Amino acid sequence: MSELKLIAKTFAGLEDIVAQEVRDAGGKKIKIKRRAVSFEGDLEVMYRVNFSSRCALAVLMEVKQFYANSADDLYRKTRDINWSNHMMLDQTFSIHATTYSEVFSHSKFAALKVKDAIADFFRDIYGQRPNVRVDHPDVRIELHISDNRCTLLLNSSGEALFKRGYRERTGKAPMNECLAAGIVQLSEYRSSEPLVDFACGSGTILFEACLIAKNVAPGLLGRRYGFENWLGFQSKLLEQIKSDAQNAIQSVSVNLKGYDIDRKMILFCRHNKSNSAFFEDIRFYQSDLRNVETEKESGLIISNLPFDERLKVGNLNRLYEDIGTTMKHHFPGFRGYLFSSNIEALKCIGLKPTLKMQLFSGGIKASLRRYDLYKGSKRPNKSK
Ligand SMILES: C[S@@+](CC[C@H](N)C(=O)[O-])C[C@H]1O[C@@H](n2cnc3c(N)ncnc32)[C@H](O)[C@@H]1O
Repeated sequence: MSELKLIAKTFAGLEDIVAQEVRDAGGKKIKIKRRAVSFEGDLEVMYRVNFSSRCALAVLMEVKQFYANSADDLYRKTRDINWSNHMMLDQTFSIHATTYSEVFSHSKFAALKVKDAIADFFRDIYGQRPNVRVDHPDVRIELHISDNRCTLLLNSSGEALFKRGYRERTGKAPMNECLAAGIVQLSEYRSSEPLVDFACGSGTILFEACLIAKNVAPGLLGRRYGFENWLGFQSKLLEQIKSDAQNAIQSVSVNLKGYDIDRKMILFCRHNKSNSAFFEDIRFYQSDLRNVETEKESGLIISNLPFDERLKVGNLNRLYEDIGTTMKHHFPGFRGYLFSSNIEALKCIGLKPTLKMQLFSGGIKASLRRYDLYKGSKRPNKSK
């Protein structure tokens, strides 16, 4: 099979994890970009990255790259591409454009030009234009323009890869599944250690940790991919990838516990849990995090903290102070990883973080902080 030029999109801070996932899937010529990883590989590599990556948001395949100096130029060069290699007249399609360019300052206008060019390509041959569809199109086309360099790509994932299929119920501030999987990996979680999320919301961190511990590829949860609609889709190849992933599952039991003060969240977690047998051993409890304790001598806490008043937490600084106290007194011997976009409130934790990492949540700057929790001797310090 010939080598395809591929790009895996991700969140800032997770590029190295995605690069390793691509390497594991057989990708070559891997390069780290901003919020993306570029690589080369055949169809199998493209299918495998889609099926197994935990932190990639989408995998794009380059169709053509060219230079255009005007909207007409973009139209002509797009129309010159043989689109019947990529889709059929009776398939629906969508165009999504991102532009960093003075010539093409309006991404919607550039997308419109590409849409017309593709539709006209088909009209010239068949006398009919294929239909555009915004929701659930058969074929998703992306246009990236940087100055006058235009790249047309097909989105091989279809629906974003964070849509694993298990999370039917969520609260007001659910964490993205790819971000949760990234944070679990950054925390160096080991399946043999207990993991507690004391503000678990809809349970994303624990669900992703469970999949990681059992080495369950996200694709095994049964979602579909955009490439399944493509011409020349190789269903046997996808079956082989599924069967390889099935054989790689580790049958370990995990100690994963989630707590939330909101009873509705715990009901949502239990509902989401029922969507896959892999989640069987995760436990969820309604509790104020201030009352959460452990009998274990060591383990890991990972929590995505409430960050604003939408989450009805009362005095946020007070809550963060109490989180610091709870971690110190109830979890000696644990590593605590707290994630929040409220940097001011994080200063109220009152323990000195041993690591700070900038990440993003919904496009907003956020911080992941590690706290090593010791028994008695080490006194809490105010963090800066
Ligand atoms: C940012 S959300 C967590 C989102 C979660 N990671 C997810 O993916 O759905 C923070 C959660 O903290 C919970 N919370 C707020 N105050 C709490 C407290 N005192 N004890 C336990 N949970 C609390 C909220 O109910 C909310 O579900």
